[in-house]
Amino acid sequence: MCGIIGIVSGSKEDIVSSVIEGLSKLEYRGYDSAGIAVLSDGNLQRRRAVGKLENLENKLEEDPINGTVGIGHTRWATHGKPTEENAHPMMTKDVALVHNGIIENYKSLKDSLITQGYNFTSQTDTEVVAVYMQSCIDKGSSPREAFRQMLKVVEGTFAFVAIFKSVPNKIFCAKNKSPIVIGFGKNMCVGSDASSIAGNCDEVVYLSDGEYAEVTEHDAIFFDENFCEIKKERQKVTDDLINEGLGQYPHYMLKEIMEQPNAVRKTIVANEIPVDLLKNVSRILILACGTSYYAGMVARYWFEKYLKIPTNVEMASEYRYRFPVIENGTLVIGITQSGETIDTLEAMEYARSTNSNCRVLAISNVKNSAIARSADVVFYTEAGVEIGVASTKAFMAQLTVLAMIAFHDRPEVLNELRNFPNICDDILSSVNDEIENLAKNLYSAQSIIYLGRDSLYPIALEGALKLKEISYIHAEGFAAGEMKHGPIALIDDNLPVICLCPSCDVFDKMVSNIQIAKARGKNVIVFTDSIGNETFGDDFKKIVLPNICQECVPLAYVIPMQLLAYKVAVLKGEDVDKPRNLAKSVTVE
Ligand code: G6P
Repeated sequence: MCGIIGIVSGSKEDIVSSVIEGLSKLEYRGYDSAGIAVLSDGNLQRRRAVGKLENLENKLEEDPINGTVGIGHTRWATHGKPTEENAHPMMTKDVALVHNGIIENYKSLKDSLITQGYNFTSQTDTEVVAVYMQSCIDKGSSPREAFRQMLKVVEGTFAFVAIFKSVPNKIFCAKNKSPIVIGFGKNMCVGSDASSIAGNCDEVVYLSDGEYAEVTEHDAIFFDENFCEIKKERQKVTDDLINEGLGQYPHYMLKEIMEQPNAVRKTIVANEIPVDLLKNVSRILILACGTSYYAGMVARYWFEKYLKIPTNVEMASEYRYRFPVIENGTLVIGITQSGETIDTLEAMEYARSTNSNCRVLAISNVKNSAIARSADVVFYTEAGVEIGVASTKAFMAQLTVLAMIAFHDRPEVLNELRNFPNICDDILSSVNDEIENLAKNLYSAQSIIYLGRDSLYPIALEGALKLKEISYIHAEGFAAGEMKHGPIALIDDNLPVICLCPSCDVFDKMVSNIQIAKARGKNVIVFTDSIGNETFGDDFKKIVLPNICQECVPLAYVIPMQLLAYKVAVLKGEDVDKPRNLAKSVTVE
């Protein structure tokens, strides 16, 4: 989380606008506050503002700065509230620094610096790093020595980008766990991801943990953890990194919902399941977080039912801290849109280090992401850049890859999957008005329950997550059969209950659960197909979707859940693409 950017330019013309442009592409990583520092003729200058990037832009318009090298930051607060004092860059007399990550030993470093007479103006862990480098310079170190000494003492996760007053046109950057990409092009630049700097460069280098780089106007040199110079391979910037903007849509989330047919199509074309992928695999372990975790939950139903392979799906953040045992023959699958969620990355590494015989597969939407680079095999979802914090098309593409694995030897299902983009288009155009009306009915609700069974249970969870994260209405998903063990106590005439009920194996059971809910509350809304339409009387609110093969129902039923959450949030006037407190890419544990 937190987006960081740095640009070295020969001229003073456009450094601030280039940094701002980079930050605008990184706001998905956090938007509690933003800041920029530039170096011009030996002067460090800085502007910071609380809230979204536009506040910083306004400030810069009123009080401009300029320089030939600049660094910028968009923050997702960890240590210290989102105030201007806590906004990055952190600056001392001689150094300005932006940071993504958490410095775990900041307290002891801070205490020692206070004893030496240094003052602090923020509550952040990051300021300690800047002040530590200042203390090195005060003791006679050069900026390079100060940066290296700092790297030896800090513990935790970080991507650092620093500029020093006495070093014109040079950026120092280093990485441990949090991402840093260095771009070569018309300007030399660094960023938290490749798409933030793609407009400025043709080639990129991904720093690895422990490495650091010194980036100058036309080149960069790289060092390993012992500060020995190393060579790094450059990679071409590809088109899929380019964010094409909103186009005709008012929000990225809506655009991305509408792009789902294409996401499925492209993902199918781009991936081929190797014939030996499941050879000697006796167990599958899926590791993921958030929406990606729900994709994994859907896959578990498929893998166990159709492949007959015992499958566990685990929340990555919990998984490695219970020190689980990994059996031989386990295929570990990490699912991640960003490819950099730290909990998922660490959980996958834990699995590999516990049993070196297991194979590790990553399903990622971002090429060359940390998780993709750490895996033995990668399947890329071809959803394209996803900007909306609430994941939609990436989830759909994840389900597509997982279905391709689950049904690799069932051509009839693969055909249905190939046809799914057309069904997806149908659903998007046919349910829009009904969902709009439903949103009008629901947007003033205090709380909403989602029910599903089998592979629709994770979709109930995903529907509830989508709603709560962007509309701030409390929502919970339950396995419909579990409702009678507690959640049923919540149901009354005021509680909307959304039920996912396609006519598949558990249809009759689900119908009974819905009747039980209806006997206790009048606001029961059923998403079903033509069979369900006949089954449920006119006293039910129904939204009827096309009849779909049961293997594909999770892909189909998540679409109205996404649209509903979107429309409710819009009606409530919320910032759909940048919901409060959230960030799209989560690189803190
Ligand atoms: C954040 C995002 C979610 C995402 C989750 C996991 O919470 O807001 O949309 O599902 O991280 O991210 P990943 O990139 O690993 O899929």
